[in-house]
Amino acid sequence: MKIIFEKTSIEKLKAQAYIFLCYQDKKLFSEELRLIEELLNCKIASISLEDFEGKEKQTVLVYTDKHRIILSGLGLKEKLTLEKVRKATARGIKKVKSHKIKTVAVEILQDLTLKGVEIEDITRAQTISSLLALYSFDKYYTKKDDQEIHYIKEIILFSQYNSLGKYAKEIQEGIRSGTVIGESTNMARDLGNEPSNVMFPAELAKRVQALARLNKFSAQILNKSQIEKLGMRGVLGVAQGSEHEPKFIIMEYKGGKKNDKPYVVVGKGVTFDSGGISIKPSAGMAMMKLDMGGAAAVVGIFNAITQLDLKLNVIGLIPCVENMPDGKAFKPGDVIKAYNGLTIEVDNTDAEGRLILADALSYASKYKPAAVIDLATLTGASVIAIGSVASIVMGNDQKLIDQIITAGDQTYDRVWQLPLWDEYDKMIDSEIADVRNSGVVKQAGTILAGMFLKRFIGDYPWAHLDIAATAMRSSETDYDPKNATGSGVRLVTQYLMNESNKLKK
Ligand code: BES
Ligand code: ZN
Ligand code: ZN
Repeated sequence: MKIIFEKTSIEKLKAQAYIFLCYQDKKLFSEELRLIEELLNCKIASISLEDFEGKEKQTVLVYTDKHRIILSGLGLKEKLTLEKVRKATARGIKKVKSHKIKTVAVEILQDLTLKGVEIEDITRAQTISSLLALYSFDKYYTKKDDQEIHYIKEIILFSQYNSLGKYAKEIQEGIRSGTVIGESTNMARDLGNEPSNVMFPAELAKRVQALARLNKFSAQILNKSQIEKLGMRGVLGVAQGSEHEPKFIIMEYKGGKKNDKPYVVVGKGVTFDSGGISIKPSAGMAMMKLDMGGAAAVVGIFNAITQLDLKLNVIGLIPCVENMPDGKAFKPGDVIKAYNGLTIEVDNTDAEGRLILADALSYASKYKPAAVIDLATLTGASVIAIGSVASIVMGNDQKLIDQIITAGDQTYDRVWQLPLWDEYDKMIDSEIADVRNSGVVKQAGTILAGMFLKRFIGDYPWAHLDIAATAMRSSETDYDPKNATGSGVRLVTQYLMNESNKLKK
């Protein structure tokens, strides 16, 4: 997919379709239609304002004597937000997706009335939402006619106003970074959507190595005997019932100065979570091939930060396992010892994510990190608590958490904070070991998972992102598809971009 900026006059674009973003305002709207006719030197076949008023969620395809024009509603001008621009762009793109259109031109919304939002941000947002809206996972269809084929090969961003030419540099930068972030999110979606008979720990490791060869980062894969030597018995315990050996993936990007403390991103990589001996109900179990959404996000984040050339040192850690029931599987009541020496009573083998993260988070200490962020599809309770609208953030450092909340607001890959108060701590005490992997009472499931992780944190600022609610969807939204969404890629990449930008100033 190619996305380019065209600053010359619009009739030279030679696009097969044009997407214009329209406000819900009769006067502005009729002016816009007149402008379109003038710019494209065409006549729009009449459009009824009953069909289209520029309201949010409204899109309409109109034909001129020469072109196809898609009008996509932004709602009221005074209520404009960057997210409404993303959504209107995505809806416009989706409208042309099923037509045999190769080149589509998208209007850059030139509205600089949004506070703190530059033209580069608008262009980045529109680039990302276009790429996300075009995503589909269709590699396993053998009869290509049976599913939606996407013809769009090129998106041209343009402006109705020649004055935008003076922002060419900013627009190009928005397109470049937007393309990287959009494609990295789609990459995470692809990894997630792979079925678990294809995507198991060794396969994810192979894909990370292949990606490292293309990018400026290194990848080291620890195999089972190396994991044993290190004493990561959380990873080993969960993997015990699977035919697939666990892998511990270490990625290293050196964009900063030699002695800069690294940022560490950790991703839960459970390629299939059957629940193990504490087996899950069969309804909906297929979704648990997406239980490596955190790991997929870390891979996407690495793809993004290396291509964006961020001036930071970043380490990626992915403990990767499959959680299966078996004669050899670990069992409820077992006691295992994590990498940092703490003993864990496994009360429930389905609370496996926190066991592998315990090893990875305590292992992270060796890097003396500037900050550690973990991403995990950790608790069903987070879906109940907040629904698929945002991820949950918790941690031990309010400054870091606030920076992540800001990055969430910037990208709309949002987070909402839950507390890790001391009162919760005793709820994961065990009568036989240092800690228990599930709560004594069935309360505060998401927080207790966070409290569990907190026991394995070293001396570093830490934020835990429970992305269970956002990483997988049962139905599509404007620019998120059904199934894997790649949530966390835009969020953490933006956070790291913000950190990198601070160094420039
Ligand atoms: N992978 C699941 C969490 C999950 C559930 C993610 C639904 C996405 C959608 C996790 O390993 C799990 O099973 N957690 C248990 C923990 C419980 C046993 C303490 C849960 O949430 O029920
Ligand atoms: Zn589980
Ligand atoms: Zn899980």
